[in-house]
Amino acid sequence: MDKMMNPKIEKLHRLRHESKMGGGEARIARQRAKGKMTAHERIELLLDKGSFRELDPFAVHRERNFGMDEQRIPGDSVVTGWGTIDGRLVYVFSQDFTVFGGSLSGIHAEKICKIMDMAVRNGAPIIGINDSGGARIQEGVVSLGGYADIFLRNTLASGVVPQISAIMGPCAGGAVYSPALTDFIFMVKETSHMFITGPDVVETVTGEKVSFEELGGAMTHNTKSGVAHVAAESEADCLYLIREMISFLPSNNMEDPPSRRSTDDDLRTESTLDELVPDNPNKPYDIIEAIRLIVDDGEFYEIQEHFAENIVVGFARLGGFSVGIIANQPMVLAGVLDIDSSGKAARFVRFCDSFNIPLIVFEDVPGFLPGVDQEHGGIIRNGAKLLYAFCEATVPKITVVTRKAYGGAYCVMNSKHIRADLNLAWPTAEIAVMGPDGAVNIIYRKELAEAQDPEARKAELVDQYREHFASPFIAAELGYIDDVIAPSETRPRLINALHMLQNKRDQNPPKKHGNIPL
Ligand code: HXC
Repeated sequence: MDKMMNPKIEKLHRLRHESKMGGGEARIARQRAKGKMTAHERIELLLDKGSFRELDPFAVHRERNFGMDEQRIPGDSVVTGWGTIDGRLVYVFSQDFTVFGGSLSGIHAEKICKIMDMAVRNGAPIIGINDSGGARIQEGVVSLGGYADIFLRNTLASGVVPQISAIMGPCAGGAVYSPALTDFIFMVKETSHMFITGPDVVETVTGEKVSFEELGGAMTHNTKSGVAHVAAESEADCLYLIREMISFLPSNNMEDPPSRRSTDDDLRTESTLDELVPDNPNKPYDIIEAIRLIVDDGEFYEIQEHFAENIVVGFARLGGFSVGIIANQPMVLAGVLDIDSSGKAARFVRFCDSFNIPLIVFEDVPGFLPGVDQEHGGIIRNGAKLLYAFCEATVPKITVVTRKAYGGAYCVMNSKHIRADLNLAWPTAEIAVMGPDGAVNIIYRKELAEAQDPEARKAELVDQYREHFASPFIAAELGYIDDVIAPSETRPRLINALHMLQNKRDQNPPKKHGNIPL
């Protein structure tokens, strides 16, 4: 015979069940019909199996007006708590769209703030899963205040613990600014949208007709605006990619990133690299191919792969060390630095520096992109971001010049002069103020104008210039390049350097904070 359940325990089970069911079966079915998981399901998939511990599942909203009194769902519209990823502690919140459209009430904000405070106090990453109609309309300014409370915490936690945002539904209005303050934004193709004002408001104000997807979908923010860092194929893919990213990061700014050894030999040389850079300096090659040949197991976790593709950034491991890679991509705009690529790389450099992740730079850059658009768009201000980021970084910094290191870009891309620890060059490196064509036009302008056969004379002068500058040895003679290495030996040389720099200590002068050109 069944024993009668203690009514107090029965109440506990009932409330837990109600909390788990959020807005009820019909709304859950609607959520699923859109290809979306529930708030709890997302957390289960993100964290190690069975590791999730929920916090505040019985918290309810306090609004008495607008018939809200009768609609109190335990936990309200967000699920919060902690758990582990690969056994490492993380804090998480997951907005529940089935409860008032995941809108942010006072208590919703308090729940998020509570776990953010715990994450900072206990030194573990915060992962926020966003799926919300924004401010809880019925709560007015309480909701707005709640957002501001979160924004403050996002800002104070920046550089202390890694903060990751997953967008898995709407994220609109001022609500976008919490993800925007975090380190990385993941979006899901087709089902996630971010915008300040939606398509209807845009049409009313500007007359422009635009779909949700076009205005603020995953690919828009991963290709055009640069707001997002990763575009996932599905929610499951998104959660998997977040787990992967966490594996490269320390839990907080006081720790080193975790080391993960693989079977890849630290001393592995790669003869393909010796043939990678074409003889013709104007012919491109794929720097991602080089990166994959060098890093552990060929695994490169690229960030913002669809945005400003002329620079490549992402995480990898070398001899088990987690590293941040920044590489000019000769396949796109010849790897030139422009407004978008400077901003993209600067933010990545600063993230790595905040979290003790060594920087590896692969340099093949013909300079900054010329053009009225670039000048008027502020290439000066934006290029300075990357320069500033490299200058202030105190983590181990290593550069490999694979081919061109021209002009101001030579200085910017982690040169010796801005505190790089080790500057290596392949024999294919060309280090000069500018490319041969431009240089000859300037320094021999008069001679060329008077030459009998200007074309032939120019070709001769270009050859002379190239012979002089198209090598790394002048820079090596001066000590600006520490060593010239065979491309094939890049992997063992970098791993050796990371060991050598493992206990690096460097500091910036004491100050409240610098003033990076924003
Ligand atoms: C209260 C809300 C809500 C909100 C949605 N709901 N948004 N409740 N406050 N902000 C409720 C709906 O009443 C509905 O309740 C349920 O959530 C699902 O909403 P639907 O409209 O049926 O869903 P859908 O068709 O998928 O449309 C989703 C949506 C739409 C695009 C998000 O709901 C919408 O436009 N909501 C308003 C968005 C908005 O303008 N928010 C304020 C932004 S300004 P039932 O009971 O029917 O399930 C802002 C300021 C932040 O956020 C400032 C920070 C500084």
